[in-house]
Amino acid sequence: MSRAPIAAFRGLGVAVPSQVVTNDDLSKSLDTSDQWIVERTGIRERRVARADESLTQLTTEASRMALARAGMSAAELDAIVVATVTPDRRMPSQACDLQAALGANRAAAFDIIAACPGFVFAAGVAEGLIASGSYKNVLILGAERLSTITDWQDRSTAVLFGDGAGAAVLTPATGDGRGILSTYLKSDGRLAELLYIPAGGGMNPLTAENVNDRGQYMKMAGREVFKAAVRAMGEACDEALRRAGVTAEEIELFVPHQANLRIIEATAKHSNIPMSKVMVNVERYGNTSAASIPLALAQAEEEGRLKPGMLILLVAFGAGFTWGATVVRW
Ligand code: UT7
Repeated sequence: MSRAPIAAFRGLGVAVPSQVVTNDDLSKSLDTSDQWIVERTGIRERRVARADESLTQLTTEASRMALARAGMSAAELDAIVVATVTPDRRMPSQACDLQAALGANRAAAFDIIAACPGFVFAAGVAEGLIASGSYKNVLILGAERLSTITDWQDRSTAVLFGDGAGAAVLTPATGDGRGILSTYLKSDGRLAELLYIPAGGGMNPLTAENVNDRGQYMKMAGREVFKAAVRAMGEACDEALRRAGVTAEEIELFVPHQANLRIIEATAKHSNIPMSKVMVNVERYGNTSAASIPLALAQAEEEGRLKPGMLILLVAFGAGFTWGATVVRW
């Protein structure tokens, strides 16, 4: 049922590595082609961080931009939530490294692992923190260096992924109607092995043998993931709209996870949202997992397609499986 928003988005920031890798670049080392990648995915190029470009650098740049746009200093933050599957190190969290870089010394900082819908999950977590009354200013990030877990010898995945970071500040809603109107988050851990990393965890630590087998990289059953993504993103849109008490026709901008243009088109069709209302930038960045929605939101803002007060729908699906959607009065 629709309710007054508790938390509202105040500022967005993004950062991407400068290195552009085109489909033609990839076809020099892989048995693939620009034509296949564009036809099957819509992707034309992606950003790939250089070895010395850390996720801490990308998240710091994105956060500073979000804070500046929110008119807030890092010292005012109460919490930092980073959604990522590719932190710079296993311990401590990416959020703690970011906190130190920002000087956000008052904040509680922690990571969440929710793969591609990470930004939607982080927004839901921020909303909950704000609803508790104990936190006011929450910085959320969706940020990835997927290039570090991509098998550059595997054409079925290497052509899909890219690096980037997006940040947003959430604060208590002010009663002007703007803010998160509904959140729907779901998971199904039974399907984990359709998209996962076999080695490197406690049960299968890295050894010379499994590194030799390339077990430290993402494995994906593409066709199954594709079908599940279309089904789950459609369901999530339906449920988030129902919970917000709005119809698909009222949505002014639809910002789906940017994994594959065909998945985006199928999801828009399911929800009866015309492509003219859909934000698409998968051709520029590929699939950047948790960073994909904030990168698309920021570009929509830059292009004048996203303005304060607009009713928008965000949806994503990824490893876990995890999926979710949120309706926001921007
Ligand atoms: O972020 C959420 C998680 N990820 C996703 O949402 C991705 C979901 N999956 C997909 O987007 C698509 O399944 C892919 C883009 C990964 C693959 O597209 P597809 O239409 O499902 O192709 P396919 O896997 O069925 O492969 C078709 C053919 C195969 O050859 P044969 O068996 O028909 O001879 C593949 O070997 O295309 C071949 N192939 C390639 N050919 C050229 C697979 N990858 C490539 C490639 N270049 N990069």
